[in-house]
Amino acid sequence: MTLLKPKVLRFESLPSTNTELARLASEGAAEGLAILADEQTAGRGRLQRAWSSPKGAGLYFSLLLRPAIPQDQWPLITFVAALAVGDALREAAGVETDIKWPNDLLSGERKICGILAEAIDTPLGRSVILGIGINLTQRAFPEELADVATSVAEASGRQPDRETILAALLRALSRWYSLLHEPAGREKIVAAWTSRSSYAKGRLVQVSNGNEVWQGTTCGIEDDGALRLDTATGEIKVVRAGDVYSVR
Ligand code: BTN
Repeated sequence: MTLLKPKVLRFESLPSTNTELARLASEGAAEGLAILADEQTAGRGRLQRAWSSPKGAGLYFSLLLRPAIPQDQWPLITFVAALAVGDALREAAGVETDIKWPNDLLSGERKICGILAEAIDTPLGRSVILGIGINLTQRAFPEELADVATSVAEASGRQPDRETILAALLRALSRWYSLLHEPAGREKIVAAWTSRSSYAKGRLVQVSNGNEVWQGTTCGIEDDGALRLDTATGEIKVVRAGDVYSVR
């Protein structure tokens, strides 16, 4: 069963595809409406950060979802997105990716894609704006990103084709989102995500939520997508928001 029929609106420039799609969602837009922009002048990342979005350098995309599943399962929507981006980059660009909790796509140790899912209230009910930013063509990044970011061009050694990646992404999003609505879908999504993430189990990490920092070894994912951390005291800390850093 395919639930999602994406319809993509294209823009040359927007402040943020997430912000524009939230506006359309609050006017009653249907599930599956999507926005693609060539550049964003005020692209937004997780934890109130900016998302650098130069013209033609990335895939800046947002998709409106009105999920028919209990809200406590909505964190898995970012898992759906990470799995779909992983499929699309493998299929359309030959790039293998790792996933760093909660939803960064990495090539090697460097970030190639970020995901920002925002839940909003609309006249048609609570909805999700799923934003995806893929670095496509950059061969050099600003100094502060040079060690932590990469692009499809750098990872594959070829100039990527944005339309081919978008088409593969839409197909993969439809597949994984449909699975999320099936009876055993949630377990399958967590299992697939775990098998594709070198951070899911046995990795010594620090996790920061802005106020507190925990160190421990990752020991799996809860049903709702939270990260389990085995801390030095032997206590299992369940983390629902934060940034993960590998400890060497
Ligand atoms: C992150 O911090 O890793 C998430 C980055 C998400 C960026 C995408 S680009 C398309 C969409 N519009 C935005 O303003 N942000 C998301």
